[in-house]
Amino acid sequence: MAAIRVGVIGAGNIAQFHLPVLKALSDVEIIALCDNDTATLNATSDRFQIANCITSYQELLDDGTLDAVFVLVSVLNVAEITEPFLKASIPTFLEKPPGLYSTDTQRLAAIAAENNCISMVGLNRRFYSTLVKGREWLMEGDGVSSVTVDAHEDISRIWEAGKHPEAVVRRWSYANGIHALDLLRFFGGDVAHVHAIQKRYDNPMPDSYSALIEFENGAVGRALMDWSAPGTHRVQARAPGMTLTTDSSYRRVILQRRGKEDIAATFSEVDNLYKPGFYAQDEYFISCVRQKKSPEFPAVTLGDSVKTMQLIDAITGMD
Ligand SMILES: NC(=O)c1ccc[n+]([C@@H]2O[C@H](COP(=O)([O-])OP(=O)(O)OC[C@H]3O[C@@H](n4cnc5c(N)ncnc54)[C@H](O)[C@@H]3O)[C@@H](O)[C@H]2O)c1
Repeated sequence: MAAIRVGVIGAGNIAQFHLPVLKALSDVEIIALCDNDTATLNATSDRFQIANCITSYQELLDDGTLDAVFVLVSVLNVAEITEPFLKASIPTFLEKPPGLYSTDTQRLAAIAAENNCISMVGLNRRFYSTLVKGREWLMEGDGVSSVTVDAHEDISRIWEAGKHPEAVVRRWSYANGIHALDLLRFFGGDVAHVHAIQKRYDNPMPDSYSALIEFENGAVGRALMDWSAPGTHRVQARAPGMTLTTDSSYRRVILQRRGKEDIAATFSEVDNLYKPGFYAQDEYFISCVRQKKSPEFPAVTLGDSVKTMQLIDAITGMD
């Protein structure tokens, strides 16, 4: 079986978590690592023993033998760098967010469709073994009737850390909140209506979001994000007679069942070994590339990610 020839663009923080997985997949050959910051490029290529280091992604576009690309660059550069690869019909895995604005995501999704290009967005929580198992349990019953996502955090820490540009912090629901908010669609499906309230208490932007969601299948969703005080994350989803509850890191889920013993699931071996969800997510993308097929649920294509971005627009009142 010929190896899938992969180019990786972006050698920073998140590359440290994708590269161990790509190196562990026996049918992947990393043909080049690209970063326009040479210090980062050299440190990461040394760490992962990648011989071919390049500073311009144009070399990957010109290569002609590339089977797939991983776009792992800074939030503000993801959309711009993804676009030429989609136009060249090179299967593309891109980290979240798939553009900082839903109009960016729509444009990328249209380009992917026009060029019949495989795409997948790195919403890795959808591949957490605990969440996959928990959803499976609920679907074995009568299906999800409600899902509540609590995604509280003290956003002042992000402002104070100064790592992210202001444009990114102001759109933190897209840049990072997307992980938690996308779980509404993971459990609830496609959205029909959203009723939302945004408030500002302690930050130069709204920092309290509360939304009631009605899904097309009749289920109900609730998104709760308070960003003005220390907080935590949690998902609770229900099917008639069953309640699924996660801990704050989704490391453990527990299913309470009417009249039966509770059951629990914890992270699988690969979720403990690698960044959670990464092994299953990256392996699945590579298998889609090999089979020349578009990723399916629980994966998120660019087309599907437009729906999550539009859900965030509705929750935040932004566009
Ligand atoms: N899935 C997750 O859990 C998760 C977690 C953290 C970050 N991310 C996402 O991963 C992406 C990268 O985040 P990060 O934390 O690794 O950031 P980072 O700043 O540590 O790394 C990004 C790298 O991209 C490089 N880069 C930027 N523009 C480039 C260009 N034109 N050509 C080549 N290289 C370029 C930068 O030099 C930098 O080294 C972001 O989209 C972020 O949202 C995902």
